[in-house]
Amino acid sequence: MSQDYSAYEDALSSAEIIGTETLPHSWREAPRAWGNELHKLAPYVGGFPPALANYLLQQYTDPEMTVLDPFSGGGTTALEASLLDRDVLASDVFSYACTLTGAKTHPLTEDEFDAALKRVKRDADNVNPDMLPPVDEDAAIFFHEDTLQELRQYRAVLKEDTSRDGRFLKAVICGILHGPSELFLSIQTRDTFSGSANYVKDYKEKHDLEEVYKPVDEKVRDKFNRLVGAQYPSGSTRVEQADATSLPFEDDTADFVLTSPPYMHMLDYSWNNWLRLWWLDEDRSAEQDSLNQTSKVELFRSFMTDVIAELDRVLKSDARAIIVIGDVRKHRQGGAKVVYPARMIAAEASEFGFEVERVIEDDYNVDKRYYTQLNNLRWDEEEEDDGQELIDRILVLRKGDPGPQVEVTPEWSD
Ligand SMILES: C[S@@+](CC[C@H](N)C(=O)[O-])C[C@H]1O[C@@H](n2cnc3c(N)ncnc32)[C@H](O)[C@@H]1O
Repeated sequence: MSQDYSAYEDALSSAEIIGTETLPHSWREAPRAWGNELHKLAPYVGGFPPALANYLLQQYTDPEMTVLDPFSGGGTTALEASLLDRDVLASDVFSYACTLTGAKTHPLTEDEFDAALKRVKRDADNVNPDMLPPVDEDAAIFFHEDTLQELRQYRAVLKEDTSRDGRFLKAVICGILHGPSELFLSIQTRDTFSGSANYVKDYKEKHDLEEVYKPVDEKVRDKFNRLVGAQYPSGSTRVEQADATSLPFEDDTADFVLTSPPYMHMLDYSWNNWLRLWWLDEDRSAEQDSLNQTSKVELFRSFMTDVIAELDRVLKSDARAIIVIGDVRKHRQGGAKVVYPARMIAAEASEFGFEVERVIEDDYNVDKRYYTQLNNLRWDEEEEDDGQELIDRILVLRKGDPGPQVEVTPEWSD
């Protein structure tokens, strides 16, 4: 299908298009690990850096405003906005994303954590192993049998628990379930993506890895100890599991959107987290079906049109929406083609009366990201290099008169 490039050009014609180097300050200057410890509660592939959220929230919002993120993922926007004392509306269609966003924005205090862990451990110890569902053979590859047994008992206690305590403990356990160090409950896996069982089996043999018993309660406590002393969020946050084309939020309730939609099938969130979904007892294939994972430009475009209609409905009349989305290389027979979802979104948003105020081109080379490289392995290695660098684009959209942008010196440049 042919692309209507004139609509893209029109939508961008009045925008200020700048690179990060033009900004007085940018998130690029922040130290690599900058950010509240709560951001590291559990991994979420494809999230943007906390410093980026902090920078944009400081420049464009004040504590009176309500911030919306309909693709909340690991909760970067929600947590950063709440730490800055903004109220937040956050949603994602993926259950694990909602567990994480909810846990990070409603963390337990030390006393609450101690009481919750004690109660859940006691209940888990009392679960009769004979009543548990059969051992999952793929999951078993990752753990010592006694750790696995404990995990199954904790799961039996926590799986129906939707309380704040339960959600927080689930997120902490997901955060230490598997990964590349002693902190994790699994054998030392290569990374925190859930690799396939066969891959992990080979990796285990190749590196002669032994399963070691790791008591769940001790590792959970070690993880929690890292949060002690961290600032806790103060803004109120509502987190809902919902499709972004049908948001459960009232009309005219948000002042600002900071979000990042799925990048046209760059990532399969349900697959990258399969072991966490196993432990959370979520249905991976149902989750996969609910995620927008299209690589077809026209399907993505109509999805984003519906999303923008929802943003327009939930936003007040004077508001901004910032959408972070990178260029995408589509692989197909006959070679690769780069598409620019940001331009498409700009054109669609202008149909709803949004004006493109600014586009910040973030020269972080998307091709160099680990997950992009993993994704590329699935394609023809003979494919010629098209020489085009994929970059992230930050679209600043505005409707009505949302007030000026405020130049604030970020914390990391003090
Ligand atoms: C690029 S990620 C967002 C990452 C987030 N900014 C962060 O820092 O963690 C895109 C998110 O869109 C979610 N998603 C995919 N399809 C969706 C849909 N139809 N409705 C709502 N969320 C969806 C995915 O679960 C994923 O969390």
